[in-house]
Amino acid sequence: MENKKTYYITTPIYYPSDKLHIGHTYCTVATDAFARYKRLRGYDVMFLTGTDEHGQKIEEKAKQAGKTPQEFVDGIVCGEGGILDLWKLMNISNDRFIRTTDDYHVAAVQRIFKKMYDNGDIYKGAYKGKYCTPCESFWTESQLVNGMCPDCGRPVHDAEEEAYFFRLSKYAKPVQELLESGTFLEPASRVNEMINNFIKPGLEDLCVSRTSFTWGVPVDFDPGHVVYVWVDALFNYATALGYQNDRYDDFDKYWPPVNIVGKEIVRFHSIIWPAMLMSVGEPVPTKVYGHGWLVIDGGKMSKSKGNVVDPYVLADKFGVDALRFFLLRTFPFGSDGNFSNELLINTINTDLANDLGNLVSRTTAMCEKYFGGSLPAARESGDFDEELIALIRGTAEKYAAQMDNYQPHLALEEVFRLIQRANKYIDETMPWALAKDESKKARLASVLYNLLEALRVSLIMLTPFIPASCEKAFAQIGADKNAQSWDSAAVYGVLPADVAVHKGETLFPRIDAQKMLDELESAHKAAAAPKVEYPPVQPDVTIDEFNKCDMRVCKVLSCEAVKKSDRLLKFMLDDGSGTPRQILSGIHKFYEPEQLVGKTVVAILNLPARKMMGLESNGMLLSALRMVDGKEELNLIMLDDAVPAGAKLC
Ligand code: MSP
Repeated sequence: MENKKTYYITTPIYYPSDKLHIGHTYCTVATDAFARYKRLRGYDVMFLTGTDEHGQKIEEKAKQAGKTPQEFVDGIVCGEGGILDLWKLMNISNDRFIRTTDDYHVAAVQRIFKKMYDNGDIYKGAYKGKYCTPCESFWTESQLVNGMCPDCGRPVHDAEEEAYFFRLSKYAKPVQELLESGTFLEPASRVNEMINNFIKPGLEDLCVSRTSFTWGVPVDFDPGHVVYVWVDALFNYATALGYQNDRYDDFDKYWPPVNIVGKEIVRFHSIIWPAMLMSVGEPVPTKVYGHGWLVIDGGKMSKSKGNVVDPYVLADKFGVDALRFFLLRTFPFGSDGNFSNELLINTINTDLANDLGNLVSRTTAMCEKYFGGSLPAARESGDFDEELIALIRGTAEKYAAQMDNYQPHLALEEVFRLIQRANKYIDETMPWALAKDESKKARLASVLYNLLEALRVSLIMLTPFIPASCEKAFAQIGADKNAQSWDSAAVYGVLPADVAVHKGETLFPRIDAQKMLDELESAHKAAAAPKVEYPPVQPDVTIDEFNKCDMRVCKVLSCEAVKKSDRLLKFMLDDGSGTPRQILSGIHKFYEPEQLVGKTVVAILNLPARKMMGLESNGMLLSALRMVDGKEELNLIMLDDAVPAGAKLC
């Protein structure tokens, strides 16, 4: 048997520093559609995605969350609502998922680094830059803000640090030739950008090790150095197939890849990446495609701007397929696209609910109504058939040309041309009028059959985009596996003459725009709220046990920090008894003493007295304590000042 042609496609490996948003989803869904398309075409496909887990940023984020870096990334990648869950939800058909903290990858990167060191392409030198001592950070001249550290604003000084460098300069010429030849980098507009902005000004050697942090792949022959995160990350595409490791064994089978990446990392993928592959003597990618960004109101999505769009919310409100479809139908893949909920709703209503959804529901409903779901054998061709049948036969080729060029929105344009033509064919042939005339039954059967065929080939081409919906629609129009194959996508007459049709559920209900916009606003707010960890409820207590706790309203008479303690505050309280009560509370992390004087608080008074830092505490202040994103947060319980001291809580 002839071996199938192979096809290897990848997404960038995402940073698990935060939840992923609609921009990451866009790239992964697009790559998924390309992978599914190639499978449909009969290729043996390897589709890889994963996470880029090392580096200083992750190390810092983990520290802020009070976790080890590994615990932190495990939570974001494998935790509930994490990256793996998101791709499962979005029906992503990746064959493999790589994490750069996987042992096999770490060991392989060490071998790769050593290989480039041994062949002379990595050498030890000195990294010269501007150093900010308090921040322990190196900066380049251009990163400084008014000559000061961009992070803390303090002065910097010239400094040198021992580091390893990759001889990128040596590869300037072959990389330029690669960029100028054929279709290695697309869209073509990015080629000039790379040559003019980076190659022509002169490629400098690249610093590929760091000593200022430890969360990375250690340079095994020089302790203290970790491999620069981009070297570690780029080679994921190779190690995931078994390059320089024994975990997998299909590098020879699938290499080289098609790397789908966002435009901001095209430089890494089209200059540094091929240069390093040349250094280790492996073929460069077949293609690097730099897609555009999804932006909001023309600007970048960012957590700090609070305009990050949550794919979980959208998938929940619209359905996974509607969201997948919208992303690929609306925005030209190589350019930036302005995301908006209005556009999303509009696309779903126009293309999916009206055009596709109506074609499915009208056609299947008429097959059931006029023929009980099974068409009779007699046929009669008529006006308008020819044009529709020509489109049924001719669309797949045009669609394929666009898909092969990584232009999903244009491929979908071709499919919708056919779908719209089919809807128009219903208006032209007026099946409801034919149904009234017994002598027109054969004509009616032909009309419905042609509509089913138009639907069938459309659904084949839509499968890479909306796989779950297509499966349901295929069942409704009675298309078996053979009638779903790519080979049948350009053939008219594949459904059997007596095809059995079942009208099913509405695939894409129409959306009430205003109602949905309101719902989305509140859903996004709820999703953006910090995640509070809710501890389990304690076993029951009796009312008598509860009543034993003497909780009273108290007024803060004075409050001061306890010397030599960074936690404790000493309170003198009016508890209503006439004698001031001293209570110590470990809440200095959350409040300054002057914020609390005069406040109305709540304390439990009948806890046994306790000594802390040599001072007696006669009771405990009540507060609300919770974990928010792994950090402790506390609010002292404060009541309306009208409530008098001594009032009992019950
Ligand atoms: N870890 C690196 C990539 C290493 S690949 C060897 C990285 N990670 S990332 O988490 O920042 O993901 C970047 C990718 O996510 C972009 O290249 C792009 O594919 C996708 N997107 C992130 N934000 C996006 C938009 N706003 N719009 C479209 N895609 C976006 O860079």
